[in-house]
Amino acid sequence: MNEIRKRKEEDIELILKEGVQSRATTLLECVKLIHNALPELSFDEIDLSTEFLGHKFSFPILIDSMVGGSPKAKELNRNLALAAEELGIGMGVGSQRAALEDEGLAESYKVVREVAPNAFVMANIGAAQLKSMKKRELKKLIDMVKADALAIHLNPLQELIQPEGETDFRGVLEKIDEISDLVPVIVKEVGAGISREVAIKLELAGVSAINVAGLGGTSWAGVESLRARGIDERKEMLGELLWDWGIPTAASLIEVRNAVKIPVIASGGLRNGLEVAKCIALGADMTGMADPLLKAASKSKEEVVKFLKDRALELKAVMFLVGAKNVEELKGARYVITGELAEWL
Ligand SMILES: Cc1cc2nc3c(=O)[nH]c(=O)nc-3n(C[C@H](O)[C@H](O)[C@H](O)COP(=O)(O)O)c2cc1C
Repeated sequence: MNEIRKRKEEDIELILKEGVQSRATTLLECVKLIHNALPELSFDEIDLSTEFLGHKFSFPILIDSMVGGSPKAKELNRNLALAAEELGIGMGVGSQRAALEDEGLAESYKVVREVAPNAFVMANIGAAQLKSMKKRELKKLIDMVKADALAIHLNPLQELIQPEGETDFRGVLEKIDEISDLVPVIVKEVGAGISREVAIKLELAGVSAINVAGLGGTSWAGVESLRARGIDERKEMLGELLWDWGIPTAASLIEVRNAVKIPVIASGGLRNGLEVAKCIALGADMTGMADPLLKAASKSKEEVVKFLKDRALELKAVMFLVGAKNVEELKGARYVITGELAEWL
């Protein structure tokens, strides 16, 4: 089996079976939204819709970049894309490197646009791979899913622990700068967060949005450590040590929001609508979830739709309780920051 395809299937199996989560939290538990006992609005008039990068979303939750590159991934992508289309939201495909090296794997990505003609779709590539890519190759990735945006993932921690990882990250920023006029670029982490310094460099390089993907959810050091178990003792040890490395999602979001003007996506460990509401109050323009949606997609499209509708209902409930009629008003909701998050800041 093709090496990348084999690795992707192992990752999916591991995450589905073991649920490889960080042992540290997002620190969103330190954010308390202020209850409004006099909301002066009707629950039914609350509007969850929002606009992001010129695209209309029914509610501010994205299905974050996950899979592609294997037959199993094609099924998962189909379920995610059908749900995104039905709900009027957006989704990302997983790293498309596999399809560049093996044309036969492109189908597992193409299926997304086939079943979701209207959804917001993000292409995906890793920074370490981007470095050596030609514009022509990038265009191919974007065209493969007729993408609205290209998500570039920064994953130095994951590459470090991965047995076959690419650890030369020189020249990444310059390359991002070079391609940011080709297509709207969203730069994301994969679970270790973005700092204010990095955010400022990315904004100057012309990226369209930043997805913080902070600490508190899926741990890629964890995934790679488990994969190295019994194969590569040193990688296993490093992954164990750095399992919870990173900037907690809440801290990363606040840092990035205060540092740049471009839209910000909050993600990394978001699991319910209350956490989504907190992120929007902290200044996020959009939020994203990955792990729980993989689990739902492994069952059916209906499970994905149900999961997301439940999270949207939770978000609406919280908006009622803070007296926010729409997402713009939620951005102005009052909150208190306590405990460890207050110390971070
Ligand atoms: C199975 C799986 C595969 C993933 N593959 C990618 C990928 O190919 N590219 C990427 O940018 N992020 C990838 N991610 C990272 C997610 O987009 C997200 O940033 C991260 O999982 C944190 O969100 P979560 O805690 O909600 O899972 C993947 C996540 C999961 C669970």
